[in-house]
Amino acid sequence: MKPNEFSEIVNHDKSHVWHHLSQHKPFQTTDPMVIVEGKGMRVKDINGREYLDAVSGGVWTVNVGYGRESIANAVRDQLVKMCYFANSAGNIPGAEFANKLIEKMPGLSRVYYSNSGSEANEKGYKLVRQLASLKNDGKKHKIIYRDRDYHGTTITALSSSGQFERRDQYGPYTPGFIEMPHCLAYRSPNGDDPDFGVQAAKELEKIILREDPDTVGSVCLEPITAGGGVIVPPEGYFETIQEICKKYGVLLHMDEVVCGMGRTGKWFGYQHYGVKPDIVTMAKGVASGYAAISVTVTTEALFNEFLAEPSEKMHYFRDISTFGGCAGGPAAALENLRIIEQENLLDNVNRMADYLMDQLFELQQKHSIIGDVRGKGLFVGAELVKDRDTREPVDESVAAAITADCLDQGVMIGRTNRSLPQYNNTLCLSPALICTKDDIDQIISSIDVALGNLPGY
Ligand SMILES: Cc1ncc(COP(=O)(O)O)c(C=O)c1O
Repeated sequence: MKPNEFSEIVNHDKSHVWHHLSQHKPFQTTDPMVIVEGKGMRVKDINGREYLDAVSGGVWTVNVGYGRESIANAVRDQLVKMCYFANSAGNIPGAEFANKLIEKMPGLSRVYYSNSGSEANEKGYKLVRQLASLKNDGKKHKIIYRDRDYHGTTITALSSSGQFERRDQYGPYTPGFIEMPHCLAYRSPNGDDPDFGVQAAKELEKIILREDPDTVGSVCLEPITAGGGVIVPPEGYFETIQEICKKYGVLLHMDEVVCGMGRTGKWFGYQHYGVKPDIVTMAKGVASGYAAISVTVTTEALFNEFLAEPSEKMHYFRDISTFGGCAGGPAAALENLRIIEQENLLDNVNRMADYLMDQLFELQQKHSIIGDVRGKGLFVGAELVKDRDTREPVDESVAAAITADCLDQGVMIGRTNRSLPQYNNTLCLSPALICTKDDIDQIISSIDVALGNLPGY
């Protein structure tokens, strides 16, 4: 492309594309970023500027890195052979990927395809609601979610999300979703208590009892909260959640949209905690962004609840996702999974995670603005405070200035972004699972420089 063609594209973008999560007024005087190519950990914008991407496509997605020809070829070959047929019929990559995925998820056995994390979660909610209807006149229909978790962008997914700034102005919300408190020790009055994990989980029991156990169908949780500030559950948390779910017959729905497929150093985030979920949802890293695919996985027991004689006209899962039948999605997912296995990327995640955490802890020693560092695998956050003793959060403009400075230095890092009033103060790192020590050094050094450039810190 010639330079004048590039500027034409930027103009088309400015004139017609409505970008995610963006105020467009500044684009009256500046240009939006247009990304034109990527290879490995790096992307290039339309002006030829290269960036190290420490956020896997901005939102924890491009797990195996950019420019994977084998995924592109797998998708191409599949599309030429058979691009689409509604998922009431099967297709070859859909069957193969389901089989491979289930090998990684002992205790689960059924795979339902759709296109986005929000949609995958909605399927989980619909299963719970329909099960309630089939088994006890709809009584056990309530779904509990947690403060600071996010489960998606649709009105019902927002109804189940504990992020005020994502939800605000989009109500009224879907009824029957009930919030429980978050489990971030750093922001809890009794967070230093060694028993905090168990206590935080017991909040679930209080809510189930308050609502009446006969009305509660499921609890939906992120294994590690992502956009709500990278919250790693404290010791004992999920074990207690599991016991409570069992005690009251409440299904456990784990939202693995971010954590799934290796991001945390195991195939799935819940596998760090020995829990046995009934429903697991995933999207983003399932095909590393090479195709739009999401998945809702369930146990055989849950699936069996929907088996009946065909004469029982309303007894099957009456859900459809048109694009759940796109065969390119599972074709990409299958190759993505093969790459993670063949290149031993889980091992790389675990090795690089230790290095990344060490580097961040060193940075914390140097810069008092870093109040807390937390994470698992290549999924970490650094929470910024005005004062370490009071833990008063910095204004979101500070986190924004740091990410902008890193970008100027050619490194893309993330931050909690208009999710929680007051707490848009966490820098987020989620480099691709292929990242090296050199990449981490470059990321850390850019943050170091950006922190040094902050006025008054
Ligand atoms: C934990 C979690 N669940 C669900 C979603 C929604 O996924 P999608 O944007 O694909 O609908 C997201 C998106 O960021 C997420 O972080």
